[in-house]
Amino acid sequence: MRKFLTSTLAVGTAALLALSACGSSEREGDTAGNPSGAAKGFAKDALIGVALPSKTSENWVLAGDLFTNGLKEAGFKSDVQYAGASTTVADQQSQITAMITKGAKVIVIGATDAAQLGTQVKQAKEAGAVVVAYDRLITGTADLDYYVAFDNFKVGQLQGQALLDGMKAKKATGPWTIELFSGSPDDNNSGVFFNGAMEVLKPLIDKGEVVVGSGQTDVKQTATQGWKAENAQSRMDSLLTSTYSSGKTLDGVLSPNDTLARAIITSVKGAGKPVPVVTGQDSEVESVKSIMAGEQYSTINKDTRKLVAETINMVKALQAGTDPTINDTKSYNNGSKVVPSYLLAPVIVTKANAAQAYADDPKLGPLTK
Ligand code: GAL
Repeated sequence: MRKFLTSTLAVGTAALLALSACGSSEREGDTAGNPSGAAKGFAKDALIGVALPSKTSENWVLAGDLFTNGLKEAGFKSDVQYAGASTTVADQQSQITAMITKGAKVIVIGATDAAQLGTQVKQAKEAGAVVVAYDRLITGTADLDYYVAFDNFKVGQLQGQALLDGMKAKKATGPWTIELFSGSPDDNNSGVFFNGAMEVLKPLIDKGEVVVGSGQTDVKQTATQGWKAENAQSRMDSLLTSTYSSGKTLDGVLSPNDTLARAIITSVKGAGKPVPVVTGQDSEVESVKSIMAGEQYSTINKDTRKLVAETINMVKALQAGTDPTINDTKSYNNGSKVVPSYLLAPVIVTKANAAQAYADDPKLGPLTK
């Protein structure tokens, strides 16, 4: 509650409120919800449904594989589905309905559109299935049972701080000129990331130490529909033409994830400009290489292996008829209830700590040697 309210009030712009209103959670509340199903338990080889969004970043691809293998290893049957690339909302809705029909006991959902799943979550609950929001909160429904995620507000704070640290390392004193990008407005996380980052940046913007060169802080301007790289790249192209063609220096860009960070860097390089400090998220292979090469400044390590493992632990507890482990009962209000959550801590990664951060990651460790 503290963090969300502070950030919202601190930013206080119509733009940020609009972003919040179109899907971000309030991290505030009083009591935990009252999850269904926990006391009952179910068969050890029950069907577990996993409905993931389209593959907009590497973490989603990895999550699907890890759920398929991990649920099998734990003795469950699984039905792991991705929403398609274009008709994502309708795809995901019908996939969830099919899982309910097949008798899934737990349905894990990485929502493609936070606000469009209330009917399906209600149907699941009525059929006796427990619904777990994975990574992205589902909004506007009291029927959601649990949320398992990295603390995504913290992700935004770390991104905002990394942007400042990176700019200060290049130029000790301000003012620094930046541009802001946010994720897809249908993803609840987009507002949470943005609010977290703005909690750090807004006080400096107010003091004039940080200047948003284009003045574009409205969600309609900063949003990246569908988390698509081409949308971020074309917006950056336009910003460079409108605001930086006469030689003004761009010191930093707040990018909510790695896919968009690389698109922004491609745009800047294409315009023949020096690469500014650009933040990211997801520890994507190409971005970790870019960080080691001194281009992208930072990413966030939200280890998908841990997130899937915690979700499967929750499924195991529900199977045994016990209460799953929850470590947060106040931060993520989905508009209808405060959702009992298991939150993991994200880690900021720059060139300075990449080797340590990815030491046990078979895919990323070697890139940092
Ligand atoms: C978010 C997720 C990020 C990133 C983004 C785009 O919801 O938390 O890690 O993957 O989707 O796919």
